Amino acid sequence: MATVLQTGPDRGMAARYLSAALQIHKQAEIARHLGVDARTVRRWVVEQSVPAHYAFGLQRLLPMEFPFPDNASFTFIDLFAGIGGIRMAFEDLGGHCVFTSEWDGYAQKTYAENYPGGHQINGDITQVAASDIPDHDVLLAGFPCQPFSIAGVSKKNALGRAHGFACETQGTLFFDVARIIEEKRPRAFLLENVKNLVSHDKGRTFDVIRRTLSDELGYHVQYRVIDGAHFVPQHRERIIIVGFREPTSFDFDALPMPAKGGHTMQEILHKVDGTEPNLPWDGDRFFNHSSCSVNEKYTLTDKLWAYLQGYAEKHRAKGNGFGFGLVTQDSVARTLSARYYKDGSEILVYQGESKNPRRLTPRECARLMGFPDTFRIPVSDTRAYKQFGNSVVVGVMAHVAKLMQPMLTANNREPELPLRYRSL
Ligand SMILES: C[S@@+](CC[C@H](N)C(=O)[O-])C[C@H]1O[C@@H](n2cnc3c(N)ncnc32)[C@H](O)[C@@H]1O
Repeated sequence: MATVLQTGPDRGMAARYLSAALQIHKQAEIARHLGVDARTVRRWVVEQSVPAHYAFGLQRLLPMEFPFPDNASFTFIDLFAGIGGIRMAFEDLGGHCVFTSEWDGYAQKTYAENYPGGHQINGDITQVAASDIPDHDVLLAGFPCQPFSIAGVSKKNALGRAHGFACETQGTLFFDVARIIEEKRPRAFLLENVKNLVSHDKGRTFDVIRRTLSDELGYHVQYRVIDGAHFVPQHRERIIIVGFREPTSFDFDALPMPAKGGHTMQEILHKVDGTEPNLPWDGDRFFNHSSCSVNEKYTLTDKLWAYLQGYAEKHRAKGNGFGFGLVTQDSVARTLSARYYKDGSEILVYQGESKNPRRLTPRECARLMGFPDTFRIPVSDTRAYKQFGNSVVVGVMAHVAKLMQPMLTANNREPELPLRYRSL
């Protein structure tokens, strides 16, 4: 029987970050930074428990020059980085990010606040020469899904380009992923996308992507659709495409998943029984700690609630399934979208018959995507909703990263044969 892999942050790394943090900070400061009780930190210090889920928060306390362990470290680049959800999973395993590209200024702000120092965030990836990107072991990219236009193919064919993928994909952001893989030949890549990438443009988009990565770039490619509901109380199906430069024992289908249904909204909703953590970086922005209640601004106005009910009724009458999604403590939410800021209709929290439902707060959205409470939200609510709706379920990425890790670490670093010998 397959054993379930340990997921989430690496326990060894967490202990290592803690001991480094203790050399520069007092236990009370660490507790304040992580938003935990001082006794919790004390238990970590005397090794009664391990701060596994606080690895990321502890890492933020360390200077940038904090060395990564040789035996566990690998390097990676973070393309279409958003707010770094994929980065977090690979960093928690001891990976070191050497290059980031994200062109949205507000996402850059959140990213910079949460992954300080190191290197600057590069903007538009289409303007970056692949040769200017540092060498790396893993390329990570949650690239936007775009069709490959047939008109583009014939035009490029006429130009007599050397590589098929350049002909077929130029002008799309996948082209930029492919040209960087071609130039840098990382040991592995992980690409993330919406589930219907497979059926997009009648299957043509995915077919071009698969052929490019396997046939033209020579990688060993596997993919799997994973539902975030294995890790958080949210249905969020995403395709994850993983490729290795060399043959490996990686078997995506063998990745055991925690059972679905183990997570419900009560894990992520603000607690109104007095146990909601008081995060210094949030203050009372989302939750009023003196009245133990979510701020009223998240409750729908009568006008919006009436509109959403009317809209749902109209579609129900026509036999369509569109409508709002009400959740309670025991629910699993629908997919959080980047449009959540508009009316929040896909996930509305039920507040009893005498009160309109409310939207999730941005902190609850962060939790719904699996970000730890140490994650800072330095942008407006509207921007934050967009950023979390565009991001990934961190636990899904951590689970896949864990399976990839043995193929990325130092003792696995056999050199690649030069391209000219590869077909021999
Ligand atoms: C689906 S989101 C990826 C989110 C990311 N995985 C995360 O965890 O937040 C795609 C991101 O690509 C960025 N993007 C789109 N075109 C870009 C370009 N040409 N150069 C750099 N970033 C780009 C968008 O701003 C967006 O944040």
